[in-house]
Amino acid sequence: MSMEKIVKLAKRRGFFWPSSDIYNPIAGFWHYGPVGLMLKKKIEDAWRKMFVKDEGFYEVEGTNIMPEAVFVASGHVKGFSDPLVQCEKCKSLHRADKLVEKQAGISIPEHSSLERFNEIIKKKKITCPNCGGKLRKTKFFNMMFKLRTGATEEGEVAYLRPETCQVIFVDFLNVYRTMRAKLPFGIVQIGRSFRNEISPRQTLLRQREFTQAEAEIFFNKESIDFSRFDEVKNYKLNIQMVKDKKPKKITAKEAVEKGLVELKIIAYYLAKLQQFINSLGIPLDAIRLREHTKDERPFYAKQAFDCDIKTTEGWIEVAANHYRTDYDLKCHMKASGKDLSIVENGNKIVPHVWEISEGIDRTLFLVMMHCFREDKERGWNWFVFPPKIAPYAVAVMPHMKKEKLPEKAKEVYESIKNCVDTFYDESGSIGKRYARADEIGIPFCITIDYDTLKDNSVTLRNRDTTKQIRVKIKELPNVLWSLVHTGESFEKFSKETK
Ligand code: GLY
Repeated sequence: MSMEKIVKLAKRRGFFWPSSDIYNPIAGFWHYGPVGLMLKKKIEDAWRKMFVKDEGFYEVEGTNIMPEAVFVASGHVKGFSDPLVQCEKCKSLHRADKLVEKQAGISIPEHSSLERFNEIIKKKKITCPNCGGKLRKTKFFNMMFKLRTGATEEGEVAYLRPETCQVIFVDFLNVYRTMRAKLPFGIVQIGRSFRNEISPRQTLLRQREFTQAEAEIFFNKESIDFSRFDEVKNYKLNIQMVKDKKPKKITAKEAVEKGLVELKIIAYYLAKLQQFINSLGIPLDAIRLREHTKDERPFYAKQAFDCDIKTTEGWIEVAANHYRTDYDLKCHMKASGKDLSIVENGNKIVPHVWEISEGIDRTLFLVMMHCFREDKERGWNWFVFPPKIAPYAVAVMPHMKKEKLPEKAKEVYESIKNCVDTFYDESGSIGKRYARADEIGIPFCITIDYDTLKDNSVTLRNRDTTKQIRVKIKELPNVLWSLVHTGESFEKFSKETK
């Protein structure tokens, strides 16, 4: 499924559209409609379930605006930049690394030296993609949005955060103390980040305001014995190291034994992330964990893996995983003068950090790409979102809008709406309503017909097979809960109700 097609569908069916589109939208800003927001929240909840419920991490919510000192300390004021070139003739602005890749087929990291960009641009005769004009010298452009707080122009300088995790680092000690945490432990946050991208593109894939879900996992590098590793030791990672041309499948245990990753905790969380992405309806073969080259790694990382998803347009990153060591805590200690070390087994230490940084909007977009289905026989297209993340779990519909059927359908709606997300639809033919439900990926439809009035049973339809079974109204909450939250198969209930 092409990106273009998804974007068209997204607007038509209430997923997302450009921000402020009754005016001239600014590139890189997108709004979610009701259906898209339901899907987004479900993906966030699934992420939260994995890290906060299953892993027992602590969730925080910090501010989007933070003082300049935070980002001076973290290195973002100095180093969070993209290479920018401007056309001498038409004055358009471009990212130098992207231009070099597109026009010369040379892929170089965005934080390569300015001399390197200028040299390639000259040698390969790279010109403005808009007008063919000559390009000015490359310079670095800091991608943070700078602002001033307060009513005067001299108000204090602050920034919109370019990554949510700085909140976690500056709050590390508060969480450690108030929650009486013990290493290893994680602090997570789901929230907005802001980057003034030079060329925002591909809709939700490169935005200027976007949602990140970040987990910072703190551990003592010297004494970590991570027993939970045994849960995933035989799980196969689709890992692509710098020297590999394509991903290979190796167990988490082998990844540690062969030294591909330094620590068991790293292999464990790579496995968890891969399992999570797979649980959103992305096939395993379309997921890879790609190690960054030294040049590609962000300034704070000792090792980094992108989690990429394969699409019709190549591999696209949805999550970045970084071994940030004690870099951030030490930077903040130095700059703030506050001691952020903790005492463990009598030793004073500054914990190391493994980071999982997922782009929620990107994930949503690629889930849409992978879950899209069309075939002529059905006559419309549909999304096969796994029930746990589908915008609505079920649609309730009276077969016709007459003879007490709508009243009964509303009764059914009331009886299940607090159990799973339920959509009520009584307008149009039943075929049209099935189509509408399929088109936004609702996995189950309940139809109230004349038999319902006699025996209090309803038809339950499966989106993926269009198969229908009869279920008693009083059993619906349990059946739907199992289908949506415990991943029970529809077939199980087909057999039971035969
Ligand atoms: N916190 C890492 C990132 O935003 O990529």
